[in-house]
Amino acid sequence: MKVAVLGAAGGIGQALSLLLKNGLPAGSELSLYDVAPVVPGVAVDLSHIPTAVKVAGFGADDLDAALAGADIVLIPAGMPRKPGMDRADLFNVNAGIIKTLAEGIVRNCPKALVGVITNPVNGTVPIVAEVFKKAGTYEASRVFGVTTLDVIRSEAFVAELKGVDVSEVKVPVIGGHSGTTILPLLSQVEGVEFTEEEVAALTPRIQNAGTEVVNAKAGGGSATLSMGAAAARFCFSLVKGLQGEQNVVDYAYVAVENGDAAYFAHPVRLGTNGVEEILSYGELSAFEEKAKNDMLETLNKDIQEGIDFMAAQ
Ligand code: LMR
Repeated sequence: MKVAVLGAAGGIGQALSLLLKNGLPAGSELSLYDVAPVVPGVAVDLSHIPTAVKVAGFGADDLDAALAGADIVLIPAGMPRKPGMDRADLFNVNAGIIKTLAEGIVRNCPKALVGVITNPVNGTVPIVAEVFKKAGTYEASRVFGVTTLDVIRSEAFVAELKGVDVSEVKVPVIGGHSGTTILPLLSQVEGVEFTEEEVAALTPRIQNAGTEVVNAKAGGGSATLSMGAAAARFCFSLVKGLQGEQNVVDYAYVAVENGDAAYFAHPVRLGTNGVEEILSYGELSAFEEKAKNDMLETLNKDIQEGIDFMAAQ
């Protein structure tokens, strides 16, 4: 298994790479790419951890070598938010970065599974898809927006609120990855009941959790450690699917035909080709149905921004 992390020297990239060095199957290769000159040092640092995962660092001019033959590419590269900014405010600076990296994937590992972390995920995932379409190598089943952070936050917050064992808590989260487009399905959490007031308070807490971190870091960036943990968890699901494990189900922002929007986070069954099946998110409560319908205008606008960006190239 070769996993490439693009933006490996940043806050998310380093946390993610550490978890992958410790958690990928023995014999895997971890390929760390970044434009920051510290990346070879990050690779040397990680290489001193005694696991059977080979690490190599690649600098600004070595994108092709970093990506050659990769099975999975994870992309945390790009600018993070500062207090007062929405994820959508990052579009102008991050769109070009994600386009360049996606073109590298097309050149070097067009069959790789690609997990996009770079914000705004609602719009950067369509950019990656459009780059692949332009090159004639697009397979919708191989491109993912990583929304696992919304899932793990929901698990943590539900366990805290209800005083239950966090390892037992499962919370479906659908939609996109910003503000009201993040929709936790609290009505589907097994083993706990929520009052209307709890749903009305917990839903926006989950939706604004990224902003909670951005404000707490006071200009020092956005979530890095929890995002690293989330992306590693999602990567391990992709790995299990690629290795042929059955019934690997996780949540991700994927292209959906005849769905609520062209891209929408769903439960997906993963396999050797990435998404084997997009699963239904099941029945929604009246609160969730309204929240889903209300988010669509924003989500569709975010998606269109990505498509328009590529059309203008
Ligand atoms: C998050 O959810 O923490 C990330 O998308 C970063 C951000 O800007 O909120």
